[in-house]
Amino acid sequence: MSELVIMAPNSDEQPARLPRLLSGIQPTSDSYHLGNYLGAVKQWVSLQSSYEAFYCVVDLHALTLDLPAPDVLRERTRVSVAQLLAAGLDPQQCTLFLQSHVPEHTRLSWVLECMTGYGEAARMTQFKDKASRGGAEHHSVGLLTYPVLQAADILVYEADAVPVGEDQRQHLELTRTLAQRFNSRYGNTFTVPDAVIPKATAKILDLQDPSKKMSKSLGDAGTINLLDDASSLTKKIKRAVTDTDTAVRFDPEAKPGVSNLLTILGALTDRPVHDVAGDFDGQGYGALKSAVADATVAFAEPFAKRTNDLLADPAELDRILADGADRARAVASVTLAAAYERIGFLSPTEARR
Ligand code: TRP
Repeated sequence: MSELVIMAPNSDEQPARLPRLLSGIQPTSDSYHLGNYLGAVKQWVSLQSSYEAFYCVVDLHALTLDLPAPDVLRERTRVSVAQLLAAGLDPQQCTLFLQSHVPEHTRLSWVLECMTGYGEAARMTQFKDKASRGGAEHHSVGLLTYPVLQAADILVYEADAVPVGEDQRQHLELTRTLAQRFNSRYGNTFTVPDAVIPKATAKILDLQDPSKKMSKSLGDAGTINLLDDASSLTKKIKRAVTDTDTAVRFDPEAKPGVSNLLTILGALTDRPVHDVAGDFDGQGYGALKSAVADATVAFAEPFAKRTNDLLADPAELDRILADGADRARAVASVTLAAAYERIGFLSPTEARR
């Protein structure tokens, strides 16, 4: 038996380990917005100490809708990494890395693509949504296989837990299905991961259209970009859609705009939303908006400063990423080698040493 089999995932010889966690975020824009932070990154920071956490900036996925200019992609990737560090990811505690630095993701993805039905991929609601925007001829095969690459991102680390937003639930289901399909065809190889969709996670809505999740694609006026300056942050928040009533009350059905502002304030000040709402008894929307603007600026200003300090030292960022890639590859290469062997690919003896 080769050494590889002894080291195979899920084998009894493996020492006990902390539960493993993986998540990914796209480097699609220059500034993360408050929804990215409060809905995802803040949880990443708090989970990094209780899990063996792998956090991946999914730069390969950033090509699926269009091909960004090379300089733009490079810049966004660096700015994304800097922001994740500024938000509190600690490279001593977690493994922070770029998807494109770990070739095992795409090497596993190919195999999983061959195990995914065309219709199965085409039925993904996110694919259908994205493909229905703009002419179909503009959409790449990569958009269709996006969730399969995502499954590879997760399975190649044998992640137990995957913190994601509600909108990723279907992709996680596909990941579990593919893990099980592989395991039943080739023998137990992949951990079947659980989605961790924290209930307490604030779902931040668009300031202009609070029926939708905050998203850059809905337009700039509804998005609180963390790297914006204080005056534009304040202006945007003051222009947030409310309603014709005047009472500040948490009622997401009847008062989505006001409730969203309360959610933001609660999440930024770590207080329950109903407590926060109580502060505004007898006060109008102006007072609420001022408080939200103040809390946002109080978070965003030092965040932007930390981000810019990190960006001022690109060699240090590169060092952090190189180290993250080494640690990620150490895990991913073992899982991939075991999977490839089980599939029946001949062993590349060279690479195994
Ligand atoms: N599709 C995810 C999103 O849009 C990003 C992502 C890519 C991801 N690979 C992942 C999330 C792996 C969790 C795990 O949010």
